[in-house]
Amino acid sequence: MSSPISYLLAVFLSLFFNFHGSKANFPASPNCPITSCSINGLEFHYPFWKMEDSAADHYCGYPGFGINCSDPGEPILGLPNNDSFYVRDIDFTLSTITLVDTDVVDQKCPRATHSMSVGALPLDYSPLDVNLSFHFHCSFYVDPPVTPITCLGSYGTEKSYVFKEGDEPEGFDWSEDCEENVVVTVKETEITRSIAINELSRAFGVAMNKGFVLNWTMAKECVSCETNGGFCGYNNTAREVLCFCKDGHGSIGTPSNGLCNKGTRFLTLILCYPL
Ligand SMILES: *[C@@H]1O[C@H](CO)[C@@H](O)[C@H](O)[C@H]1NC(C)=O
Ligand SMILES: *[C@@H]1O[C@H](CO)[C@@H](O)[C@H](O)[C@H]1NC(C)=O
Ligand SMILES: *[C@@H]1O[C@H](CO)[C@@H](O)[C@H](O)[C@H]1NC(C)=O
Ligand SMILES: *[C@@H]1O[C@H](CO)[C@@H](O)[C@H](O)[C@H]1NC(C)=O
Ligand SMILES: *[C@@H]1O[C@H](CO)[C@@H](O)[C@H](O)[C@H]1NC(C)=O
Repeated sequence: MSSPISYLLAVFLSLFFNFHGSKANFPASPNCPITSCSINGLEFHYPFWKMEDSAADHYCGYPGFGINCSDPGEPILGLPNNDSFYVRDIDFTLSTITLVDTDVVDQKCPRATHSMSVGALPLDYSPLDVNLSFHFHCSFYVDPPVTPITCLGSYGTEKSYVFKEGDEPEGFDWSEDCEENVVVTVKETEITRSIAINELSRAFGVAMNKGFVLNWTMAKECVSCETNGGFCGYNNTAREVLCFCKDGHGSIGTPSNGLCNKGTRFLTLILCYPL
């Protein structure tokens, strides 16, 4: 089973069936409905799911892709590190999601506090993004020849700076001479608009309020379910992946009952192998 050929076959099959939960017809099943947080609000569906609507012990969707509708009208996605993001757009054709940090919304001069992380979730930064590097409270012997951020107020003689990641002037030890270094992802289109480096120190707030784009890929634990036409979910009580089968009988597969895999055990065996 561990031969290169079976590995290649597995990769090929997963690419072939790789619909990222996007091109299936919706509503797929009563378990995996099209929903939204409010009337006229952003509509979403699998692999995202609405926390408020899900059953107490299970949901249909990817772990970590639950959308919280408790803030009236605005869908919120929580990411690892306790970060909360407003979901501004989801493109189910491109498998992209546009997020804005709830901490920066409507702030002209947001203070980035920590770098975000997608953890182990099947999310990737989109090529539409760039990173901003913030360097807070720097004390250099000779200040770099760029405009510091002034809107955050003064902090003694220490200054703060922001650059497109990698555009920092050379000859300065940013990590050593600044108290805090934080990376924030924004859309590239928001940055190219303020090409001049000295403009970024004023324009970063607007860019951060436009958010950034992530794309999602098929969750590893859902490959066998989705390649069998099912929709993946999770049982909070049993702490196991579920599969809402495409068999028309509402069957729910689990790793042990293999319900959604009838007739395709061979495929599943290969696909579950070391991907
Ligand atoms: C949804 O967000 C609210 C407010 O941020 C929070 O109190 C609540 O615990 C969240 N719900 C879930 C299921 O995470
Ligand atoms: C997230 O928040 C919870 C409760 O507020 C806290 O116990 C936990 O340490 C926080 N985790 C991180 C990574 O900040
Ligand atoms: C997501 O973006 C990465 C680049 O950041 C790209 O390699 C990958 O193919 C994209 N995935 C999808 C599903 O578009
Ligand atoms: C931005 O930073 C994240 C994590 O810090 C990294 O994974 C990503 O590749 C970076 N994006 C770019 C365009 O450099
Ligand atoms: C989830 O697991 C519990 C405990 O094993 C079980 O009783 C329940 O029926 C399961 N729910 C679903 C939807 O599979």
